[in-house]
Amino acid sequence: MTGTHDTAIPPTDPSITLPELTERKQRGEKIVMVTAYDAPSARLADQADIDIVFVGDSAANNVLGYDGTTPISMDEMIMLARAARRTTKRAFFLVDMPLGSFQVSDEEAIHNAVRFVKEAGADGVKLEGGGPSIARARAIAAAGIPVMGHIGLTPQSATMLGGHRAQGRTAAKARQLFADAQALQSAGCFAIVLEAVPARVSERITQALRIPTIGIGAGPACDGQVLVWHDLLGINEGPLPRFVKQYAHLAEDVRRALETYAAEVRSGAFPTAEHAFRIPAEELRLFESELDAGVAAGDASGDWF
Ligand code: KIV
Repeated sequence: MTGTHDTAIPPTDPSITLPELTERKQRGEKIVMVTAYDAPSARLADQADIDIVFVGDSAANNVLGYDGTTPISMDEMIMLARAARRTTKRAFFLVDMPLGSFQVSDEEAIHNAVRFVKEAGADGVKLEGGGPSIARARAIAAAGIPVMGHIGLTPQSATMLGGHRAQGRTAAKARQLFADAQALQSAGCFAIVLEAVPARVSERITQALRIPTIGIGAGPACDGQVLVWHDLLGINEGPLPRFVKQYAHLAEDVRRALETYAAEVRSGAFPTAEHAFRIPAEELRLFESELDAGVAAGDASGDWF
């Protein structure tokens, strides 16, 4: 009966589940993750077969105009995540725990992770840090919420780390990262982001873990990669971290489009007849004859079309 299905919409790809992410590592297939902070971006990422759509706290600087990630609040994250969730149909949908949402206690960490699941439809959450964050990751995982760790350069604590710089570049610091990664795995994390970690160090961490590593500036051996939407699409300009590869230059395209639009409005080249609505000739004649006769009182209906 294939004929009856010839014109049917093909079945949508199965959505990306937690076991699927773990199996990717076992099969040696790379995991692709990208940040997205709104509905149209998440839709495009989902349609492009991205595996993990991630509402990072980097929304703070990329869309809300803050200087860094630390000011963003739970409520701001939830509003952005709700928008991105609405158009993420297939990808695993991950939301970042912002600074202050998990540091105070296990109870508060669970409470805020639950908010992301219930209010924003998160499939899982990510939190930054080794050390004290490990207990928080354990608490969230034990509450039944999938949690991703994040070590290396953790922007929420960049000041403590001496700025935005590569981590794990001494044997002692690399050993600490290795230990943190293993502790996060034992705490129940389903994956770990390695940010700005020397490639050979992340390779050894990746080999030692059962769970996938997702690298950003951590070399090619990681089980997956993540980049920030505004970096990879060239919406952010100026000096970017060396690990960013730009796959488009949208800021240039947008600027050029806006300048052309402005020039065409000013010159009268836009709009033309093709952008305008028409009134039937008979109605126009009637309207104009009423105007000429001075009877038009105006139409107060306010109909748009
Ligand atoms: O918020 C973010 O964009 C991140 C990525 C760098 C992993 O945490």
